[in-house]
Amino acid sequence: MTTEPVSDTTLDAPAIPEVVGHAASELKADAPPILTVENLRMYFPIKTPLMRRTVGHVQAVDGVSFVVPKGGSLGLVGESGCGKSTTGQLITRLYKPTGGTMMFEGQDLGSMSNKAMKPLRREVQMIFQDPYSSLNPRHTVGSIVGSPLRVHNVVPKNKVLSRVQELLEVVGLNPEHYNRYPNEFSGGQRQRIGIARALALQPKLMVADEPVSALDVSIQAQVINLLQDIQNEFDVAFLFIAHDLAVVRHFCPEIAVMYLGKIVEVGDRESIYGNAHHPYTQALLSAVPDVKQAVTGERRDRIRLTGEVPSPIDPPSGCRFRTRCPIAQEICAKHEPPLLQIGKRHKVACHFPGRLGEHPREPLTARLLGVDSVGQPDPGASPVTDLVEHPGYSDTWFDLDGKTIGRA
Ligand SMILES: Nc1ncnc2c1ncn2[C@@H]1O[C@H](COP(=O)(O)OP(=O)(O)OP(=O)(O)O)[C@@H](O)[C@H]1O
Ligand code: SF4
Ligand SMILES: [Mg+2]
Repeated sequence: MTTEPVSDTTLDAPAIPEVVGHAASELKADAPPILTVENLRMYFPIKTPLMRRTVGHVQAVDGVSFVVPKGGSLGLVGESGCGKSTTGQLITRLYKPTGGTMMFEGQDLGSMSNKAMKPLRREVQMIFQDPYSSLNPRHTVGSIVGSPLRVHNVVPKNKVLSRVQELLEVVGLNPEHYNRYPNEFSGGQRQRIGIARALALQPKLMVADEPVSALDVSIQAQVINLLQDIQNEFDVAFLFIAHDLAVVRHFCPEIAVMYLGKIVEVGDRESIYGNAHHPYTQALLSAVPDVKQAVTGERRDRIRLTGEVPSPIDPPSGCRFRTRCPIAQEICAKHEPPLLQIGKRHKVACHFPGRLGEHPREPLTARLLGVDSVGQPDPGASPVTDLVEHPGYSDTWFDLDGKTIGRA
């Protein structure tokens, strides 16, 4: 793989300062799932202006599967346009999915009618990226934070104000400031107002869509600490969306990496940050500044991805990353790599999975797919027909080092 000193900015990620006083969130490996997403798809139709005829689709999310454990947090990371927000918006049912299931406490959010969804809307709340546009400037903080309480009628009218004040206190704001307007607060304080609003209905799951991206680096750690406190105190699960791996490292013990509508690698913190096997994850990681390097002044070798992210209207055949992948081979254009479990809590979708600089020369997936090394059907092979991408982990996996089946 080609490596170069850091120079361009396309994948540069500002480091969030060390999060002081808060240990990194721990993996809740034994917690039952609060959300199980399976083969989720969202194809937005493209219509002609006059006839409103459908002439194609934007394949924003295309077969995504993952699990968020009860009270835990999963990070969803990828470049702009890879389908992160659409995934979050599907879970909060701002859109009805084209296909797939989203099981939340035994009910499929994707197939429910809007009426049936109403009680569940309390349980799944969203924190938005932009604390400026997501708060109505003409409403007071009390009215903004109290609005879900009134709409869902969860506290008597005469108790709304005291509940709002409690919520403001929980998120670190002065409860006496309930009658102020959003423009009287800083960006970080506004994001706290958004968090208080999301918390008002005591949800079991929060979808946080880039909740710190719009904030100063110095404020980001404070907001992440607050989310961690909220998680510990209220046992809320999080799907935490971010465009770089630095932001989710502390808060998310598991991370899924998305590229052009698909998950390319998912695993626990150790697997993703210490043992990434997908060239795209490795490229994202090479752009994450390292505190130690900043102190010593060393320069990290940087993987430079060439070319633009292709259009999700007409994505590349086979592996969607192949047009930018520095190690792509012929098979990559012919077959989509399955999301293969390669460790206890580690999955990767690549024909040539390996540590940086140690990618195999022959496709490791060929035997499973029943093809030869260039992707042609192999008459002597017996393909594995049940390479189904289930959302969780199984207790057996494909061990790349020994090329055998591993076991938990
Ligand atoms: N309502 C829509 N109609 C048509 N296309 C859409 C719609 N919403 C999103 N898209 C497209 O779907 C793709 C995924 O968009 P999405 O907003 O989910 O990406 P993202 O990963 O959140 O990106 P960013 O980091 O920029 O927020 C993009 O190509 C986007 O243009
Ligand atoms: S499958 Fe091929 S193109 Fe895709 S990431 Fe792996 S090597 Fe690169
Ligand atoms: Mg987005």
